[in-house]
Amino acid sequence: MSKKFYITTPIYYVNDKPHIGHAYTTIAADVLARYYRQKNYRVYFVTGTDEHGAKVAQSANAAGMEPKAFCDQNSALFKETFKALNISNDYFIRTTDERHRVGVVKFLSKLHSNGDIYEGTYEGLYCVGCERFIKEKELVDGLCPDHKKAPEKVSERNYFFKLSKYLPAVRKLIEDGTIKILPHGREKEVLGLFKQDLEDFSVSRENVQWGIPLPFDEKQKTYVWVDALLNYITAIGYGDNDAFFEAWWPADVHVMARDILKFHCVYWPALLLAAGLPVPKVVYLHGFFTLDGKKMSKTLGNVIDPNDLVKKFGIDATRYLLLTQFPFGQDGDIKESLFAEKYNADLANNLGNLVSRVLNMIEKYCGGTVPKDVVSPIPLAHVGDYIELLQFDRALKELWEAVMKANQIIDEAEPWKLAKDPGKREQLETVLSQLAALLLEFAAAIEPFMPETADIIIGSLNEARITKGDPLFKRV
Ligand code: MSP
Repeated sequence: MSKKFYITTPIYYVNDKPHIGHAYTTIAADVLARYYRQKNYRVYFVTGTDEHGAKVAQSANAAGMEPKAFCDQNSALFKETFKALNISNDYFIRTTDERHRVGVVKFLSKLHSNGDIYEGTYEGLYCVGCERFIKEKELVDGLCPDHKKAPEKVSERNYFFKLSKYLPAVRKLIEDGTIKILPHGREKEVLGLFKQDLEDFSVSRENVQWGIPLPFDEKQKTYVWVDALLNYITAIGYGDNDAFFEAWWPADVHVMARDILKFHCVYWPALLLAAGLPVPKVVYLHGFFTLDGKKMSKTLGNVIDPNDLVKKFGIDATRYLLLTQFPFGQDGDIKESLFAEKYNADLANNLGNLVSRVLNMIEKYCGGTVPKDVVSPIPLAHVGDYIELLQFDRALKELWEAVMKANQIIDEAEPWKLAKDPGKREQLETVLSQLAALLLEFAAAIEPFMPETADIIIGSLNEARITKGDPLFKRV
């Protein structure tokens, strides 16, 4: 049987509608999912929405809605947006799903009966934006450095998870590579966390009503991060479908930005160990981007809705533009003003022209059929390796270099001149056949990134009679 590949994105908070940050991670994961499907892996790709907790409850309240109705509305927006971006997820999990609740209850009951959950009192600060307890010394001028808001003072009865008991084991799993933290370099950041004071953390909240009741104390609601992390196993049947769960767990890769590193690289493996479950194979922490040098935020009013990009540029171009802004593993900056420029240069001009030139010449000079069975003159040797390393910008760079070379081949060969000289027929047929072979290879390699474009190119070249067709990308 072919190999399995279980890939996840974070589940996104539904306190607001989706933005290009959510789209960015989800498109990246989609590229991997599509790539491994192409390689005949059995792929299961999960994304979804994180719906409980104080932050969502407060936003619902501000919107004058019941939390569940508010979640239904915003979760639907995420679903629709991901559809609009041609995301090929196999499953969309919502933490308000009944099957998720069943899994959470099973998991927490197990930890409780093993003695890994104990009752205590939390006294300190809580940042609702982060949905986490925050320490005095982390504040800048009394404010959470990420949300620029003063945290709430809380004093409440909580249940705690015995993180300390599992820390040495988690650390060892990271050090020996059982859990791979990628890209290289982030691993150091994670191991650095173990040198700080990592304390047992709350698995429940007393003052938050919008959540899953603890099975052993119904007055307490599951802490939203514990609820959320468990999505990775409930989505594949932990709690209601053992066989399915066994077939897919552990995750082959959890993809996310580095903002949620501690939860995924420390808390999550520890929780899994406590439940006697295998740990994920890879946690990939990509960079965090700013927009024109600023944090994307509602307050600044600079949030970009991915649906607007799709309306302006189309699906595949949106996917391409987001992934080519900066190297995937690093932090970066997105400049909205450069989208149109890059679209026109790379897509409308370079790729669009190449495809229309080749199709047009095959129609005009070869009666609409590729005359020879030849190999592509430009190898695309590293694209697959780059994708496997999540170096999407490098994969796309190699692909676009091939496009530029192909355009150069045309400029140098001048097929329109060859066509006028019967003695040069052989040469004309060879060069056009080579270009057709290149386009087919290019289309297969680009499929994970730009599925519709790949289909159009392959479809055009497989027509009984090849014609120039419509432009792939209209200039904007
Ligand atoms: N609900 C939690 C995750 C729970 S997973 C068990 C959460 N949600 S979130 O809506 O805030 O999404 C955070 C994630 O969105 C990031 O890890 C990243 O994948 C994506 N991004 C949001 N903004 C982004 C940028 N500006 N840059 C890069 N990624 C962005 O945290």
